[in-house]
Amino acid sequence: MNNNVYGIDLGTCNFKVFCKSNGKILKEKNTIAIINKNEIYAYGDDAYAMYEKAPEAIQVVFPVVCGVIADFNFLQQMIYDYLENKLKGKVKGAEFIVAVPTDITDVEKRAFFELFYKSKFKPKNVLLCEKPIADAVGLGLDVNQPTGIMVVNMGADITEISVISLGGLVLSDLLHFGGNRLDESIISHLRKEYNLIIGQKTAKAMKENLGSGLPGRTETMVVVGRDVVSGLPVEKEISADVVYEATRANMESICTSIKMILEKTPPELAKDIIHSGIYITGGGSQIDNLDKLFEEITNIKVNSCDKPEESAVRGLVKIVSDPKYKRLPFSMKNSILK
Ligand SMILES: Nc1ncnc2c1ncn2[C@@H]1O[C@H](COP(=O)(O)OP(=O)(O)OP(=O)(O)O)[C@@H](O)[C@H]1O
Ligand SMILES: [Mg+2]
Repeated sequence: MNNNVYGIDLGTCNFKVFCKSNGKILKEKNTIAIINKNEIYAYGDDAYAMYEKAPEAIQVVFPVVCGVIADFNFLQQMIYDYLENKLKGKVKGAEFIVAVPTDITDVEKRAFFELFYKSKFKPKNVLLCEKPIADAVGLGLDVNQPTGIMVVNMGADITEISVISLGGLVLSDLLHFGGNRLDESIISHLRKEYNLIIGQKTAKAMKENLGSGLPGRTETMVVVGRDVVSGLPVEKEISADVVYEATRANMESICTSIKMILEKTPPELAKDIIHSGIYITGGGSQIDNLDKLFEEITNIKVNSCDKPEESAVRGLVKIVSDPKYKRLPFSMKNSILK
């Protein structure tokens, strides 16, 4: 069996790589710092550390936006360098299995395929797999059964709500909406209510430390921002309830979308979902009490998991290793433009 296999999930915030030869899963920020307009200065966590701090000559960009590739060439260079030089992997002639969102166009899916196929990777094979299917397999669910499974993946830019049965997607909805939107809501709420301008990273930290699907958290956090009136930097203590108020409407709109998918779900599959519960995953699913909020809204049990950011890439590992899943991934070799 070939061991030179990489499973790859290119998220908006993080890219995750599974390396079959050593069994490791690695996660890095999907960020690139560019100098002189076309040279990569740094990438990954190093580039993210420069975000909001870099001088004008260095641009920090995110090569995946809303789940699709926004900057093909830089992304390709970064992944190649990461696998070849940072992981010291044997990239040439390797097999790649790449997770792709469901509700994107074929052209956008093909870009993920070509990222590896048409490149100096010179791959032996490139396969794609729908992210919700990879997520479900990564959560330890047998997607081949005629049983309805509902997976909600809340990432940074997108939230995918999917119903799976017999190894395929029965229903899915991709919301251009995830953790980043919550960060933006925190920024605008603090500006409006507290005359405080904070950076994106501070907002993200507030969401991760104080965010909640339900009111009642009592913790506080001291943040540094700029006072709108005086223009000077100030320190302010912000309570969890402020973060809850800022993000409540966003979380409610995810609930509305989950309910809409449930309303469209055929009754026999809905019966399975009620029985086994809804599965939530993706980094955003770690918001405190988000599971409880979804339970309140849907009256269905909600299952959360450990290391939810990695569930799709964990699924890719199983899909390439277990012959019973060989029907799940697909190639786009025949639709490639010559
Ligand atoms: N403890 C936490 N509480 C709340 N949110 C969190 C927590 N930890 C991480 N996140 C959020 O999870 C998101 C990243 O998750 P993930 O890696 O699943 O996204 P992604 O796959 O990069 O994005 P996408 O799926 O939208 O393309 C970020 O918005 C991050 O702020
Ligand atoms: Mg993701």
